[in-house]
Amino acid sequence: MNIAAESGAFPDMMRLLEELGRIGREPGGGVTRLLYTPSWCEAQRLLADRMADAGLEVRYDRAGNLYGRLPGTRPDLPVVLTGSHVDTVRVGGNYDGAAGIAAGIAALSYLKRRFGTPVRTLEVVSFCEEEGSRFPLTYWGSGSIEGRYRIGDGTGIYDAEGVSLDEAMKAAGFGRGGQPDCRRTDIGDYVELHIEQGVVLEAAGRRIGVVESIVGQRRYGITVTGTSNHAGTTPMSYRADALAGAAEMIIKVEEMAWQAGRGLVATVGRIEAWPNTPNVVPGQVRFSLDIRHTESYMLNEFSEAALETFRGIAAVRKLRMEAACWVKTEPVPMDGALAGRIERLCIEANLPCLRMVSGAGHDAQIMAAVSRAAMLFVPSRGGISHAKEEYTEPAHLSEGTAVLTACLHELAYTTGVDG
Ligand code: GLV
Ligand code: MN
Ligand code: MN
Repeated sequence: MNIAAESGAFPDMMRLLEELGRIGREPGGGVTRLLYTPSWCEAQRLLADRMADAGLEVRYDRAGNLYGRLPGTRPDLPVVLTGSHVDTVRVGGNYDGAAGIAAGIAALSYLKRRFGTPVRTLEVVSFCEEEGSRFPLTYWGSGSIEGRYRIGDGTGIYDAEGVSLDEAMKAAGFGRGGQPDCRRTDIGDYVELHIEQGVVLEAAGRRIGVVESIVGQRRYGITVTGTSNHAGTTPMSYRADALAGAAEMIIKVEEMAWQAGRGLVATVGRIEAWPNTPNVVPGQVRFSLDIRHTESYMLNEFSEAALETFRGIAAVRKLRMEAACWVKTEPVPMDGALAGRIERLCIEANLPCLRMVSGAGHDAQIMAAVSRAAMLFVPSRGGISHAKEEYTEPAHLSEGTAVLTACLHELAYTTGVDG
């Protein structure tokens, strides 16, 4: 197919993104769609309707991953899958995850209309969860498909309100016997379109990012415990102030990340203090620590050094410091042949592209364990993401969708499963 000629062919995708952006919309702007909440259910229902409108066979699995399927003439050949995640961070944007699902539905709808039945079965997926925004766990959707999670794993995992993942899943109508198993071993290729969420493409004046690898991550929950006491009667020398100690740790880890360089990033994005009262010396603080890099050894060395530094600060200030690691993912390379195919398609369409690393985590890194996996990025205005200002030009999205469509076409409308 001629990508350049087809890149205006996806007006329904923009409409779907606008509709999705109204589901979970916050009063001050931005979108919050946490796993299994009413807005999440509404978004999945809308996507199911749009998949059905596109003539796809619609089904959910037991975890709530939603699929639209276009069966091929050769069910013996591995499935070609595209898609992304439907959940968002708190007060996130309209495009993170949503763009990849809308593009996938648009691509399959187009291919069905234009070329009819594929040889290999094509599917689009709306993964139920990727962000780790409600429960302290990430990639619940793709991880259930890949097999690292089983449905029963949700029993001991709680959100901030004390609701377990298992309870939330059942309340949303999932996790039941009789619903299709999550685990898939029949997928041959997974290709995900996503917004870049960074400024690399915009700064370089390129239109498509061809992802070579996805960074690894470590995420910790840090608890600093001191002694709550009266803010007026406790002399400075008698205090064990958990918040002051946490503040020193946060500043120090930021400094360490600057010093580490080589693309390492470390973020403290969440903090809670107890009792959080103006006239009480804080007795306990919990904060998050997120560390990312493309090399496992850098992640390990930096994590150890950061925790050692925290321990030192805690000892001097007579505090207790505990660290719980709840995300440990290694850097994942994308499939070289698929990445090469995407790059070739961009060159043929005269779309300036760039090979790059993804600093964000993605379902593709999980899917890479069960199939060949690749990602293409479209530019994010100003590099802003995980924020209400997240925006991608419709023209850029359409170009990306055209490249995705051409790639799916090559993969699914021939019997070739390699190259
Ligand atoms: C997912 O969006 C991440 O935090 O990388
Ligand atoms: Mn995200
Ligand atoms: Mn995402």
